[in-house]
Amino acid sequence: MDRSEEIGLIEEIIGLAEQKSPFLDAEVTHSPISRYASPERFQREKALIFKREPLSVLRSEELANPNDFVVRDVHGLPVLFVRNDAGEVMAFLNVCRHRGATLERDGQGCKRVFTCPYHGWSWTNRGELRAVPQEKSGFPDLPRAERALRRLPVAERHGFVWVIADPDAATIPEIGPWLGRLDADFHWLDLAGHRIVAEDTVDIKANWKVLVEGGIEAYHFRVAHKATIAPYFPDNLSTYAMFGAHMRSVLPRNTMVDLDRNNTDGWSIRRDANLLYTLMPTTQLLVQQDHVIWIQSTPRSEGLTTMRLVTMAPEGAGQSQDYWQKNHAITMATLMEDFELGEEIQAGFASRGNPSHLFGRFEGALNRFNLLVEERISG
Ligand code: FES
Ligand SMILES: [Fe+2]
Repeated sequence: MDRSEEIGLIEEIIGLAEQKSPFLDAEVTHSPISRYASPERFQREKALIFKREPLSVLRSEELANPNDFVVRDVHGLPVLFVRNDAGEVMAFLNVCRHRGATLERDGQGCKRVFTCPYHGWSWTNRGELRAVPQEKSGFPDLPRAERALRRLPVAERHGFVWVIADPDAATIPEIGPWLGRLDADFHWLDLAGHRIVAEDTVDIKANWKVLVEGGIEAYHFRVAHKATIAPYFPDNLSTYAMFGAHMRSVLPRNTMVDLDRNNTDGWSIRRDANLLYTLMPTTQLLVQQDHVIWIQSTPRSEGLTTMRLVTMAPEGAGQSQDYWQKNHAITMATLMEDFELGEEIQAGFASRGNPSHLFGRFEGALNRFNLLVEERISG
């Protein structure tokens, strides 16, 4: 973001604080609980959203060198990510093209050639069929090109590996234009220059949208986070803006409200606020003063979501591993407060006591997010 935008965002927060008003959308809205608790609805989301949008699944550093590989489940697909011998990231279905055995059984490693553990067919790390035992007698005239590994479209940008979780997809959108104006924000943050310093993966028994909703309002801070972060944030004060299908929220600290309006020179949004980027559908980036938390959610069913929470710090930041571990632990404690509430909400759907949830005027971001999801699954 450029300096004038940074100043504008801070002025907006100070203005709201002066008026003693939260950021208000026009109306109260309703969110039917059928959005969160239906297996049929989840299957539509999978087909029309998770398989279509670029997903951040790895950091580039997890495939640091040529011939590195990582195996991941991506929305139910077994995927073999490689940095091939030419240094280019590729993604393949981790499924043998002979009779479908799992091609690579290790979770990660370094290989030029992948050999199937069943009959020994092998492929290069560019996905080309390399050797077939007893090919001449058993498979005369084998159309080798047709038996290349099935590819998934991938791209690298801002230090992430992005993938389309569909082997029938021919291409992935260019990530820069897909991010729109947020692309410039991610350069400003130097995300590509960040490295993983701590991480956790947890399974949460809640719908993925309940978990997104839990992060994009500050109405709950004073109550739900009273034991953790609430003392550092003004009550129910935040703003948000849409960038196509993505959102940027500003969650000010107490210190922002006290800034001198007449002396903008020393203003810094990162010092005095958290920023939360919510990329459609399952990537969130929580920007703190000196580090960034990458929240990667993988919805497994309508009521189960795997959350990978990764603390990333600028390379060469000079802090000790102990410092980052402590920060990561605070983040985990706070997010677990949100996730436990998410699990309770999900369990409550079964009671059918609430036909819908209510979003107040200062919870408008939740409505905007849901409208984007609705648009996609109705299209
Ligand atoms: S199933 Fe892989 S070589 Fe036969
Ligand atoms: Fe929260």
